[in-house]
Amino acid sequence: MTALTHPRFRLSPVLGQNLTPSPTLYINERVQEMWAAGKHVLHLGFGESRFPVHPKLARALADNAHRKSYLPGPGIPELRAAVARFYGRRLGIHVEPEQVITAPGSKALLYAFQMAIDGDLILPVPTWVSYAPQARLLHKEIQWVPANPATGQDLTIENLWAAVQRSRHDQHTLILTSPNNPSSRMTPQELLPHIAAFCREANVLVLSDEIYGFVPHNHVRHHSIVAHYPEGTVVLGGLSKHLSLGGWRLGVAVVPPGEAGQTLLRGVNKIGSEIWSCATAPVEYAAVVAYSGDPEIEAYIAECAHLHSVRTQYLWRALHELGIPCARPAGGFYLFPNFDRWREPLAARGVHTSEELARYLLDSWHIATLPGSVFGTAPEELSLRLSTSYVDMETDEKARRILELHRSGVDDGALMRDHHPVMNEAIRRLQQFLEELQSP
Ligand SMILES: Cc1ncc(COP(=O)(O)O)c(C=O)c1O
Repeated sequence: MTALTHPRFRLSPVLGQNLTPSPTLYINERVQEMWAAGKHVLHLGFGESRFPVHPKLARALADNAHRKSYLPGPGIPELRAAVARFYGRRLGIHVEPEQVITAPGSKALLYAFQMAIDGDLILPVPTWVSYAPQARLLHKEIQWVPANPATGQDLTIENLWAAVQRSRHDQHTLILTSPNNPSSRMTPQELLPHIAAFCREANVLVLSDEIYGFVPHNHVRHHSIVAHYPEGTVVLGGLSKHLSLGGWRLGVAVVPPGEAGQTLLRGVNKIGSEIWSCATAPVEYAAVVAYSGDPEIEAYIAECAHLHSVRTQYLWRALHELGIPCARPAGGFYLFPNFDRWREPLAARGVHTSEELARYLLDSWHIATLPGSVFGTAPEELSLRLSTSYVDMETDEKARRILELHRSGVDDGALMRDHHPVMNEAIRRLQQFLEELQSP
């Protein structure tokens, strides 16, 4: 019998494997305590895009506040049509409105798609925190695909085949996250046709989480596997990242064309109809504007992506100059550096795992990060996730100011040098931390 007993009500055993105290919570609680105690903690643990709500979207939401009725499960027709056109244009594919389903957040959709599809989950590491717990809630087996921290190139076709061969099932789901959270890397474009060929042969449905796809960095372009594997790819996204609207809870998915896709969509809609009914009505109407292709909104998406790129590449370059191995980010606002080369001096300080490293950095250097282990890497791999999204944008006013400085013509170099005190202080402290580790 599970030890998870309430004085009167026993919790479901399904929660047993998920109720260990999360290092994410520990870090956040410690940061709050330390802030309350007046300590100057630099928060690189918090991942939320913080740019202001675009005025046209704020207006659209206000204008639709009177919409109070339940809506069709997959979304209002106008929104499904707008999303179809938006994704068609962005990904260079043809999308029919019937291929689109919306929900309160892509997290809910990811869960429903996992529930709707039989078979194991194939999960390449490092991976976003929620996919595996969702699979466990559904009693799904997970076939992990290992990461290689040295090269930053995680996914190989051999490792994908090995995952399939370990499975007892004749069909599988692969979650690809590109750009990735926590590494911000994109799946290499040249690998996409090979992954597609593998999936076709091994009977694998791809859930392609492209929520960071519209936050590409300035030196790259986003490419989706859907162009190579349209019949077996579900593309997922939402408003949370490229328009900084996480709290609006609007997620979208595009299923494959034809009857196979419709069967899948009906299955997911059935699940949604029993759990959330539909996305929030005023948000759906406002989202029509968000996906309309309005030039002002498109320019805003590009502007925010540019600033995420500048801020994240700046920190990456600094890590690189400090000699910290870290794959170059390509989209989103994260970095996934590795500290294995300092294993010995860290061990001398009682640090043997990424969780201990994150605690050590927080307690001794007042830098908050997340341990790699919460993203599926081995506990003793000394990787951390750093997020740039909150840094120097801790309040709405500060976030607005960064945007205004950029709009007023402050160049990217000056913006980072003169208007990012927290970022620059974090870099200084990381440098001191490494110097201290290397001192005899
Ligand atoms: C990779 C990834 N997928 C999905 C989500 C969920 O986004 P939402 O539920 O806000 O659409 C997040 C949010 O942090 C994420 O990082």
